[in-house]
Amino acid sequence: MRIQIINGPNLNLLGKREPEIYGSQSFDTYFELIKQNYPSLKLDCFQSNVEGELIDKIHEVGFEYDGIVLNAGAYTHTSIAIGDAIKAINIPVVEVHISNVYSREEFRRISHISSSCVGIISGFGMNSYSLAIDAIIEMIDNK
Ligand code: DQA
Repeated sequence: MRIQIINGPNLNLLGKREPEIYGSQSFDTYFELIKQNYPSLKLDCFQSNVEGELIDKIHEVGFEYDGIVLNAGAYTHTSIAIGDAIKAINIPVVEVHISNVYSREEFRRISHISSSCVGIISGFGMNSYSLAIDAIIEMIDNK
């Protein structure tokens, strides 16, 4: 099973960026841990601060992999193009947020990607990613 994690803008700064909201662990450290926890999965990770590069990655894996775990960062709240890219592919995408976007500013309650995703996981810290991976594994196993 192949699962692609895609991280959007500013998520390269996890560990340094607003640690009171996003924690003090870097994504690289967390990614090494989850790879150990899912030894039979092919897990890949991609991060970009550029909207078009996120869309290119969605297109690239969206007909090849088994699922995508997508934290589109602030593009969640602004990008119709990322929403359209998710609609264009044929594998399940889980929308992920480290923080609980519904307990924060009003503008974070708007998502242009939720309606195209199979589900949303928000507010469980870095653990949101592994919950999303579990959800994809379960969906595919129960097909
Ligand atoms: C985020 C929440 C977004 O509102 C924010 O712009 C981010 C990170 C999260 O993981 O909690 O960059 O997606």
